Amino acid sequence: GRDLFEEADAPDSLDAIAQAIQHCRRCPIGCNGTRAVAGEGPKKARLMIVGEQPGDVEEEQGRPFVGPAGQLLMAHLEAAGIDRKVTYVTNAVKHFKYLSRGKRRLHQTPTAKEIDICRWWIDNERRIVKPRLILALGASAARGLLHKTIRIQQERGRPMMLEDGGELWVTAHPSYLLRLRDEGRATEEKRFRDDLKAVAKRLT
Ligand code: URA
Repeated sequence: GRDLFEEADAPDSLDAIAQAIQHCRRCPIGCNGTRAVAGEGPKKARLMIVGEQPGDVEEEQGRPFVGPAGQLLMAHLEAAGIDRKVTYVTNAVKHFKYLSRGKRRLHQTPTAKEIDICRWWIDNERRIVKPRLILALGASAARGLLHKTIRIQQERGRPMMLEDGGELWVTAHPSYLLRLRDEGRATEEKRFRDDLKAVAKRLT
């Protein structure tokens, strides 16, 4: 929103974003005292992968996709033939939203409003990296890019055109796969892999 962000303050490098997000207090998540997690990868990556928000492990280490969901993602990327070196990974929301349960921190889904406020940062990452392809993992990531809530199951498997000429693909979030068991898990992992393979084809 115009009242929250000034164009003149737009960061001009990924390093500047990484620093600025640490001080972002524009939504309640940014005020929870956790560390923000910046995107990671080559500055001119052809593919940008967007998750929802850092998890417990990501917040602790200060790096995106290093926890269980990240490990599952990386295994599938490798199997689909997508090189992490051409991939910039980031999140729709830069801070970790959680509920304390004793010593554990339970993931909480960010609200549409929180995602909309944090869009400023991904928009700046997109302006700097200029990826030809973006893959959104789950509905929160898709909202961060599309400004609206969509049904992943209806929109996956084909590209959507973004206003800057880039191509957006959406698929399930790996954390969703981790919650499934047995056949359901196998079916959804195959669909996930198929989505990644479709993106891999667009990279060649
Ligand atoms: N790790 C991240 O960095 N993002 C997610 O969305 C999930 C796990």
